Amino acid sequence: MSLRPPLLQTFLSQAENAFGRCATSDASRRSISSAFKALDAEKQSSERDAARLPVCDVWLSQALDLQALPDGLRILAEAFLAIEPQVHWRTRSGDQANASATFEAGHANAMIVGPGGIEPRTDVWIGASLLAPNVRYPDHTHPPEETYLVFSAGEFSQNDGDWFAPGIGGSFYNPPGILHAMRSGPAPLFAFWLLRAQEA
Ligand SMILES: [Fe+2]
Repeated sequence: MSLRPPLLQTFLSQAENAFGRCATSDASRRSISSAFKALDAEKQSSERDAARLPVCDVWLSQALDLQALPDGLRILAEAFLAIEPQVHWRTRSGDQANASATFEAGHANAMIVGPGGIEPRTDVWIGASLLAPNVRYPDHTHPPEETYLVFSAGEFSQNDGDWFAPGIGGSFYNPPGILHAMRSGPAPLFAFWLLRAQEA
């Protein structure tokens, strides 16, 4: 018997395609393929209630602008929107180093698979971040390596490097433990992320 709801499986299949196609480095390709291999082992879905934040009501449809997306990304965006009513959007907890004053009310994170996600698990985390315009996300770090897949305008940084704008369909790799951040300009920002955790 399948533990995974069909709409979640559809999202994950489209994510595997899009992350794989957009990856720009061997490190992210290896991480992506390891993550989706691990996801072949389905886990029980959560019974947790969905939650939405006001920033989603105001900015999600503009940040994830289906008309602006090429076909291969639009299909993933649509698969995400199909499961979005089940998502528990939340704000980031913990350190807010270098965050803008607009950060708290101006962002939301959704865990799809991973801790607190629709499919709770510890080995793979896939989710999305939404930033309202003119929001700077805190510098942060985490042990799992991470690949981003960007669906909007917006800039990103790694360590003390310059800010860069991957653009729609842009992808980049964060090695384990690297300091990183993102910020929106006049337009909202939407990006998916995929973290592959090493099992203890
Ligand atoms: Fe991160």
